[in-house]
Amino acid sequence: MDKENQYINIDDPTRANAGRVYDYFLGGHHYFDVDKEMGDKIAQQAPFIPKLAKLTRWFLGKAIRIAIESGFNQFIDFASALPTANHIHLIAPEGTRIIYSDIDPITVDYGKEIIGENPIVKYIKCDASTPEMLLESAVAKELFGENHKFAFGLNGICWFLQDKDISHIAKKIYDFADEGSILFFTDYDCETISEEVRNIIKMYERMNQPGALRSRDKMKELLYPWKTEEPGLLHLEEWFGWKPTVTDEVINTWKAGGLYGGIMKKR
Ligand SMILES: C[S@@+](CC[C@H](N)C(=O)[O-])C[C@H]1O[C@@H](n2cnc3c(N)ncnc32)[C@H](O)[C@@H]1O
Repeated sequence: MDKENQYINIDDPTRANAGRVYDYFLGGHHYFDVDKEMGDKIAQQAPFIPKLAKLTRWFLGKAIRIAIESGFNQFIDFASALPTANHIHLIAPEGTRIIYSDIDPITVDYGKEIIGENPIVKYIKCDASTPEMLLESAVAKELFGENHKFAFGLNGICWFLQDKDISHIAKKIYDFADEGSILFFTDYDCETISEEVRNIIKMYERMNQPGALRSRDKMKELLYPWKTEEPGLLHLEEWFGWKPTVTDEVINTWKAGGLYGGIMKKR
């Protein structure tokens, strides 16, 4: 099934959807019984997954705050999901120009509704694996003009993108961006896929959302020529100065990995 068609039935309450299951893990309201059922099944296999979802959303807020403190006032965010708690326009000062995007048309519609009338905050439909759709859009041209200094977001999505897509995104946005631009992202560090991880991947495949896992070193390679900023690619808890207890739980259960996040820069 191609990516466009996999989302046609996104508002079908009889089929679980990965985005809505994420919302269930976050304690949100945008899910159906079928998503709760799937979320519970996933959590039964790996009880730490809902905590990983929350850590992912918290890292998003952290990275946005770091970007704002560093003076960024233009954001392009891929796979944004719903622009609710901790998302860019809720944190950023007035005057910040933002494009949110997602592949899921229902999320895009809800997203537009949540933002309301705001001439400098937009939400558009875009498959993150073809970022040029967004970068070359009339909306982006009108909003940003010739100023291409951005904070780009690729949070909570890389484990659903193939290696070739990551590498394509990294190059496209690098070429588009002015010097000094940054890219924040999260991914799952996984050298070898264990039986337990394979079971979770299969559950996501049933929602037409296949997983694509890789090691941290491989990810750095794919993100070339972006350069890692201090403090580096850290487990998500470490960004908050916490002990990586969830990460330890993941490593002990799955014998590999943990979620980590980082900020890269065009230097
Ligand atoms: C785990 S959520 C991440 C949301 C948000 N970035 C965050 O950090 O909380 C994943 C989102 O990615 C979207 N998505 C999945 N595949 C995508 C793709 N190829 N391009 C753009 N969005 C995608 C889903 O619709 C969902 O809203």
